[in-house]
Amino acid sequence: MAWRSVTKLPTLPFLLLALVTLAHAQTCAFADDSCIDPLAQTAVPLSFSPLFPQNISFYYGFDAAYLSASDGLSLDGQSEGPIVKGSFWLGYGSHISSNSIRANHTSELAVRVGNLTGSPGGGNNGCDGVWGSQCSQDIKRLLQGSIYDLSVMGSYYSNPLQTVLRELWQTPLAIVSCPSTLFTVQSIPVESFAQEDEVSGSVEVVDSGNSVSPWQTWFVHGVTASEQAEQVAVGILSRGPTYGSEQLKNPDDVQIDLVCVRAPQEAR
Ligand SMILES: *[C@@H]1O[C@H](CO)[C@@H](O)[C@H](O)[C@H]1NC(C)=O
Ligand SMILES: *[C@@H]1O[C@H](CO)[C@@H](O)[C@H](O)[C@H]1NC(C)=O
Ligand SMILES: *[C@@H]1O[C@H](CO)[C@@H](O)[C@H](O)[C@H]1NC(C)=O
Repeated sequence: MAWRSVTKLPTLPFLLLALVTLAHAQTCAFADDSCIDPLAQTAVPLSFSPLFPQNISFYYGFDAAYLSASDGLSLDGQSEGPIVKGSFWLGYGSHISSNSIRANHTSELAVRVGNLTGSPGGGNNGCDGVWGSQCSQDIKRLLQGSIYDLSVMGSYYSNPLQTVLRELWQTPLAIVSCPSTLFTVQSIPVESFAQEDEVSGSVEVVDSGNSVSPWQTWFVHGVTASEQAEQVAVGILSRGPTYGSEQLKNPDDVQIDLVCVRAPQEAR
């Protein structure tokens, strides 16, 4: 008899706790930049070898809202109009190839979304379908060359891809084979996710992301959910020289991979 009352008593508080936890896991306030409750999300597999011998996944998703002045809510100093919250991260297993570590490398992921529509498909993880293979090749060559130049110049930098993209964003360079709006976006968030150390032969990798812990979120003003769904999200992955690492022989030593998706992803 005694055990019954003991087991019965905690039932209600336990149930309440479970409901609260569930509710918390499923919602993320729009204004909270540490998480995302995506209206649309896409994940695509891609290869980023040799560092990751198995395919990794690129995730992009967004949430949308409408700011009205009467709500008294403002984000990034703006208080009226449609707004989108974008997010991205990579997903990968723990298998990393330590025998590919021959220099101090920093790996980064940049994402640009906005002022670019098209149909992802074909080579370069869907980017050739958006702008053609020539443009994909030219973007890779431009970024390889810029990171190579940065590394031989000798002035300090922390994240090579982020450094060269900031310059291209501030002073957009026209690539003849590419859409002219390539660098014309409100922001290009960049996250560094792997740091190789040639001395110890080890690599430090950021944890895979998820919607509770996306790598980054950012706000895009003046864009509605349906407009964002038309936009192609371009992911740029790089594995480049950490500042002060051994001199590169040529720009080809910088690895650049592209990935182009839309959310929601159209059926192919
Ligand atoms: C890795 O991803 C690429 C690009 O999506 C795909 O073509 C390839 O089949 C995948 N490989 C494996 C082993 O899943
Ligand atoms: C598109 O480009 C214009 C400038 O030409 C800029 O004002 C606008 O913010 C860009 N849109 C996005 C979504 O980045
Ligand atoms: C590589 O990184 C390690 C750890 O930060 C450092 O001790 C070493 O000097 C670096 N090697 C080069 C060539 O920069």
